[in-house]
Amino acid sequence: MDHLRDKYIALIAEAADENTLEDLRVQAVGKKGEISLEMRALGKMSPEERQVAGPALNALKDEINSALAAKKQALSDAALDERLRTEWLDVTLPTRARNVGTIHPISQVWEEVTAIFAELGFAVAEGPQIETDWYNFDALNIPGHHPARAEMDTFYTHRTADEDRPPHVLRTHTSPVQIRSMEAQGAPIRIICPGRVYRADYDQTHTPMFHQIEGLAIDKDISMANLKWTLEEFFSAYFGRSVKTRFRASHFPFTEPSAEVDIQCSFKDGTVTVGEGDDWLEVLGSGMVHPSVLSAGGIDPNEYQGFAFGIGIDRIAMLKYGIPDLRAFFDSDLRWLRHYGFASLDQPNLHAGLSR
Ligand code: DAH
Repeated sequence: MDHLRDKYIALIAEAADENTLEDLRVQAVGKKGEISLEMRALGKMSPEERQVAGPALNALKDEINSALAAKKQALSDAALDERLRTEWLDVTLPTRARNVGTIHPISQVWEEVTAIFAELGFAVAEGPQIETDWYNFDALNIPGHHPARAEMDTFYTHRTADEDRPPHVLRTHTSPVQIRSMEAQGAPIRIICPGRVYRADYDQTHTPMFHQIEGLAIDKDISMANLKWTLEEFFSAYFGRSVKTRFRASHFPFTEPSAEVDIQCSFKDGTVTVGEGDDWLEVLGSGMVHPSVLSAGGIDPNEYQGFAFGIGIDRIAMLKYGIPDLRAFFDSDLRWLRHYGFASLDQPNLHAGLSR
């Protein structure tokens, strides 16, 4: 028995891991282990021998079991110590730099304008960017020979010689959404349509794709006075200060009378400031919807009338956020985007003051 004890106590002390320990357990005290076999042999002993050997074997078994348990605990303590020693984090280290995107100023202004007009009771309408020439021109009282049609620098989609579908264009303005909204909902109407528009034009102040917001209000008693109030209300909310407007008589095929609208501003040391001074800056076209346009949209011009306007989003974004070059909007220059972009939590709503 002493030699069994010495052997297993030594082996247990040397065991390097739990698997070895388990093998030792099976060898020593498992069903067919050396100590278990000795215990089975008790039956063949005389009662006197058994009285001595029985308790001694039990004591040996207990001793081996506790040595196994103690070693097992020691091994797992050592493993934990090793993990604690090697797996640690310095939580005071600065975090890794993460690339955080920004909201493009056009998107921000688009949302701002939408929020302001929503507060004034205008719903958002949308239309396709690829239009038929009927929606883009004819329905808006711009027939084939009309000079405005030539002035628009239109992108036409390709048609094969034998195709008889009407010509499609990349819409040159958001005005076709006026017709689509009239057709879809009839009168009365109060909508804005923010969207992308396209013209074959590229220089310092023109890009082939740009953005407009169309406005349309139709009812039985809508007048130019409502238009003026709405626009002044809008620009004052948008620029965060009272902004005067100036209406200049103009001509658009889809409105009669028509007006180009300027907003009050000052030019000082090369910077434009809106809402002060004696200068004026043109920002939009507008007027009373032409009876032919109402008819094209299925609305009776003898019963209804209304105003429409079209604002360049890019232009008013440049004015509000001091962005000097239009083309930079579309360059995707990361330095520019980081500088002029907005944090995603800068929610453009009236309660947040609509500003950064
Ligand atoms: N569609 C015109 C353009 O792109 C802008 C415009 C002028 C829209 C007068 C209107 C309007 O709704 O009444 O130049």
